[in-house]
Amino acid sequence: MMVTVNENYLLLKSSYIFSEINRKVEDFQRKNPDADVIRMGIGDVTRPLPSAVVDAFHSAVDEMAQEETFRGYGPEQGYPFLREAIAENDYASRGVEVSPEEIFISDGAKCDTGNIQEIFGQDNVVAVTDPVYPVYVESNVMAGRAGPADETGRYSGLVYIPCTEENGFIPALPEEKVDLIYLCYPNNPTGTALTEKQLAEWVDYARDSGSIILFDAAYEAYIQEDGIPHSIYEVEGAREVAVEFRSFSKNAGFTGTRCAFTVVPEELEVPDSQGRMHSLKELWNRRQTTKFNGVSYPVQRAAEAVYTPEGQREIRESIDYYMENARIIRESLESAGLRYYGGVNAPYIWIKTPEGMDSWQFFDMLLNEAEVVGTPGSGFGPSGEGYFRLTAFNSLKNTVRAMERISELSF
Ligand code: MLT
Repeated sequence: MMVTVNENYLLLKSSYIFSEINRKVEDFQRKNPDADVIRMGIGDVTRPLPSAVVDAFHSAVDEMAQEETFRGYGPEQGYPFLREAIAENDYASRGVEVSPEEIFISDGAKCDTGNIQEIFGQDNVVAVTDPVYPVYVESNVMAGRAGPADETGRYSGLVYIPCTEENGFIPALPEEKVDLIYLCYPNNPTGTALTEKQLAEWVDYARDSGSIILFDAAYEAYIQEDGIPHSIYEVEGAREVAVEFRSFSKNAGFTGTRCAFTVVPEELEVPDSQGRMHSLKELWNRRQTTKFNGVSYPVQRAAEAVYTPEGQREIRESIDYYMENARIIRESLESAGLRYYGGVNAPYIWIKTPEGMDSWQFFDMLLNEAEVVGTPGSGFGPSGEGYFRLTAFNSLKNTVRAMERISELSF
């Protein structure tokens, strides 16, 4: 016998999309040391943490410095103060019933959306919208549910639901039987949103077909229009069929601080191969208690402060700031004659690449000729080919400069 690797990993693309972009940009910078590159690729925020958050963070660190207030391991599920603040402010205030016990605090929606598949059987058929946030796909590849990929990157074992210009980026219900459905709305990468009616069709589908929706709502704070659900639980019947992922990264600038949460409702039950029902909440709790020791106390206090009136005012300001960037991007693309989508209820703008140019060619053109970095749509799945994503997360100044440079190119 010899030690061997998990061969499912060998089915992955050679690198994660954002690592690949970083490599290309570093290479470009090495060759062009004077280049003034503006990054609108990875969806990383640029505004500092709100002051209400920083103050809470500081005082919690001070508590850790005193014997009387020091805390060691916290509850794996998160401290009650944060779970209660979330239940009250993110859910009860919108008329949605979610109890603190159904909320699991974590260090990121990326980790949770990547880990959740572990509590489901190996034979589940996984459906993803296409294009899609790569974590949903790749975590299932690692687990052995996806099989090999073809030359367009399409894994034979997954069901892809195309979201393109042709269908207005509205995912059609699958024709074949699927078990796990990953949905992210407002959507990364297309920046489009689903109305309550459109999402309700998915909830009804899941209820009728016995499937589970894994709903990533990391961008809900960017919703500007009425009629777009902030939580899947605003849709009737969703508590029996949906897990929801949320994050403090994009609303409160926690990309480097790390805090998020996952909601697993009490009603959510899934059968084993013998048909016996099991609580997903209990299984997720079991997984977390074994593999996770919770988010640090100061970070959870910092996250709690997001819900103070001052915290809310400050995060609203940041979101308005980024959405102003999104507006500038949309207007500049319009005058440059490029077709685009999104950027109204989400911080992402999804550009149709000019005639005859694929996603990576457009990436190279923007990098070489405008020194602007975006994300090639093909990195998000086969139906992302021919598209390109820009984020609204840079500073206003850089956004304006980047768009001036893009406006000078001819397409
Ligand atoms: C993205 O750019 O798609 C996001 O930054 C990825 C993430 O949030 O992990």
